[in-house]
Amino acid sequence: MSDQKFEPKIVGFLCNWCSYRAADLAGSARIMHAPNVRIIRVMCSGRVDPSFVLKALSMGADGVMIAGCHPGECHYLEQNYKAMRRFGMLQHTLRGLGVEDKRVQLVWASAAEGQRLADAIDQLVADVRELGPLQWAGNWEENGERLQALEDIVKEHEEAMEVTA
Ligand code: FES
Repeated sequence: MSDQKFEPKIVGFLCNWCSYRAADLAGSARIMHAPNVRIIRVMCSGRVDPSFVLKALSMGADGVMIAGCHPGECHYLEQNYKAMRRFGMLQHTLRGLGVEDKRVQLVWASAAEGQRLADAIDQLVADVRELGPLQWAGNWEENGERLQALEDIVKEHEEAMEVTA
């Protein structure tokens, strides 16, 4: 499905130590990418509970990006391997709910890879644009409460911001 007027709404859970900094770098280096992503900073991809993703989708996101440090480079040792395992299970669950694989993507980008992250954002937005709206919920741009609730996802899970080695 394609709709010229459809602008995908994407939530991005970005690891503080790498992908969030890659996004920062992309911004400061004026690397262009689609503006459709609302970024939520987490301390590690391994702390992205699958419920965060389900909640984002249920509240109006058309797609979700989880981005972290490259395998072997996680600041909390092997937590991004946990993210990989969780991602596989999440994809399995989402498939069962009728959610296409390309709506939720796991990306690795180091702090120096602003272009790589920008390209991944563009790819995700293009993939979701092709799929069309998820339509699990109303358009969040028309509903300030939904927008605020999305911002509160991480606040509701404060423990995700406190990672012990
Ligand atoms: S600290 Fe970045 S993925 Fe773990």
